[in-house]
Amino acid sequence: MKDKGPRAQWEEKSAKGEQGRKEKTKSKEDARSIAAPDEIHTARMLLRKPRATDAQLMFTAYAQDPAVTRYLMWRPHANIAQTRTVIDRFLIEWEKQEGFCWFLFTNDTGKMIGSIAVRPENNGFNLGFLLARAYWGNGYMPEAIAAVVAWAFTGSWVSSVSATCDMKNHASARALEKAAFVRERILQQFLIHPNISPALRDCFEYAITRSL
Ligand SMILES: CC(C)(COP(=O)(O)OP(=O)(O)OC[C@H]1O[C@@H](n2cnc3c(N)ncnc32)[C@H](O)[C@@H]1OP(=O)(O)O)[C@@H](O)C(=O)NCCC(=O)NCCS
Repeated sequence: MKDKGPRAQWEEKSAKGEQGRKEKTKSKEDARSIAAPDEIHTARMLLRKPRATDAQLMFTAYAQDPAVTRYLMWRPHANIAQTRTVIDRFLIEWEKQEGFCWFLFTNDTGKMIGSIAVRPENNGFNLGFLLARAYWGNGYMPEAIAAVVAWAFTGSWVSSVSATCDMKNHASARALEKAAFVRERILQQFLIHPNISPALRDCFEYAITRSL
């Protein structure tokens, strides 16, 4: 049987309700200090570090929406308690520097419209993102991705930011391409997207790189 990649294993844990934390081994990267900003500003958005009080906003904006979660690693939240748990985890990850999630708010209305997150990996970060359904198709995510990548590349050790998306997730692939990511390869049977099926699915790996 084919070996499953680390992300597939992570997915499986997520599908089992173990919240999919990537197993970490101690390495040089663990000693690296990452100064992630609490806020990042773009032309149309504020990207802000989560607060414990954001649970209702997150639940209402997108966490319970099966259309948003279709190609994600987690199932729609059934109640706000689940959302609170996830926000608690975001904050722990920030503290441990294992991951940095920002909520997205529009500048004009101040409404929460989605989130974007990076997770340190060998020579950079892995990126994930989502947007509330009502805001799809307005170029918000390419704008947020570009801002996060610009911050990521202020780290002298960062040579690439990568992202993985289901081969059927056309919107995600397009958002990455508009933010100048390059499709690098197909990862066969790499991730489980539990809202679609329990089977491993083929994904695109995208990256944006620079030479150090
Ligand atoms: C992926 C996602 C973040 C894209 O963000 P976005 O700000 O809407 O991105 P864009 O406005 O640049 O649109 C990207 C593509 O989405 C598709 N799209 C546009 N409007 C759409 C709509 N109303 N409904 C569905 N798809 C739409 C188009 O294919 C578009 O590409 P195009 O501009 O070349 O036509 C958003 O679709 C989303 O949150 N999806 C659900 C969560 C998800 O799948 N996250 C990624 C996991 S890897």
